[in-house]
Amino acid sequence: TPTTPGTPPATTVTDKYAFAFDIDGVLIRGGRPIPEAIEAMKMLNGENEYGIKVPYIFVTNGGGKTESERCIQLSQQLEIEVSPGQFICGHTPMREMAERYNTVLVVGGEGEKCRIVAEGYGFKDVVTPGDIIKYNQDTTPFRKLTPEEWKNSRDRNFDEINIEAIFVFADSRDWASDQQIILDLLMSKNGRLGTRSETFDEGPPVFFSHNDVVWSTSHDLTRIGMGALRVSLEAMFKAVTGKELKTTAFGKPQIGTFEFATRLLQQWRKDTHRIDAPPETVYFVGDTPESDIRGTNEFDRHADNTWYSILVRTGVFQEGSKPRFQPRATVDTVLDAVKHGMEREY
Ligand code: G3P
Ligand code: MG
Repeated sequence: TPTTPGTPPATTVTDKYAFAFDIDGVLIRGGRPIPEAIEAMKMLNGENEYGIKVPYIFVTNGGGKTESERCIQLSQQLEIEVSPGQFICGHTPMREMAERYNTVLVVGGEGEKCRIVAEGYGFKDVVTPGDIIKYNQDTTPFRKLTPEEWKNSRDRNFDEINIEAIFVFADSRDWASDQQIILDLLMSKNGRLGTRSETFDEGPPVFFSHNDVVWSTSHDLTRIGMGALRVSLEAMFKAVTGKELKTTAFGKPQIGTFEFATRLLQQWRKDTHRIDAPPETVYFVGDTPESDIRGTNEFDRHADNTWYSILVRTGVFQEGSKPRFQPRATVDTVLDAVKHGMEREY
């Protein structure tokens, strides 16, 4: 029987299925919740006609702050409590790279936030573009550090430092200077600034936290994102050196990210709902065919359980175009996606 307003939410939790949500273009746009998102969350938390609660996690390609900071923000936006135990962002799996490299360059995000994230992951020696500009202000002819940036940037002697890897954690706030610095390192001898390789094949590897060329924010039309920086950097490297640059992207649609999500969901269901077996079906709700739908469909072929892709019309995908990767269902909003999944189960 349908619950009437004022009926207390259900307390029985289903162990059969779960939801995973993309954030930008599904739940949030430009820092504001998509109105239907709040109701969708309420439905999963027991305000539904089935009298059931459904476990869920969040898998975003976004980033730029610590997981706990982002969860506090998401809790306010969606009017629910979101825990880091149910949250993965683009750079979360990069944590596993912390042991592999000593000195790394971390690019992107507001101020010092990404340095703080990287150090929190256990990276031992984190350099930012600001540190490099502070050391040699001629590095970027058209960018001067603000007094705040100057204060936060660290004094290092880059004549004695080899940068072993480059991690783009979040969107660059200054493409020209960040690309100049990345290009300098790619063309260097073993990541030593101020040197030039003769072969251009001894620079550090570059890792991006995701590969979304466009994303959905407050503008009516999509905006360029980190994947666009990646394309641009690869083209520029080719133009300058004549060689191909191979870079690596984390995030969706990478299988590794979905494996990470599987482990997170398993732990979350165990810790909060005492469910010890995997769900039969995970409904993944996304707005970007190239990352959300592609990743879910490919993972579905790998996984022992079903990963069911649902595309919404509130973000990157717009009606009138044909998605490059076909979802199992297309619906208007995240609320319709939740209803679709739940109806399918009963
Ligand atoms: O920069 C973030 C964006 O590219 C995608 O975020 O939540 O849609 O995976 P999301
Ligand atoms: Mg999205």
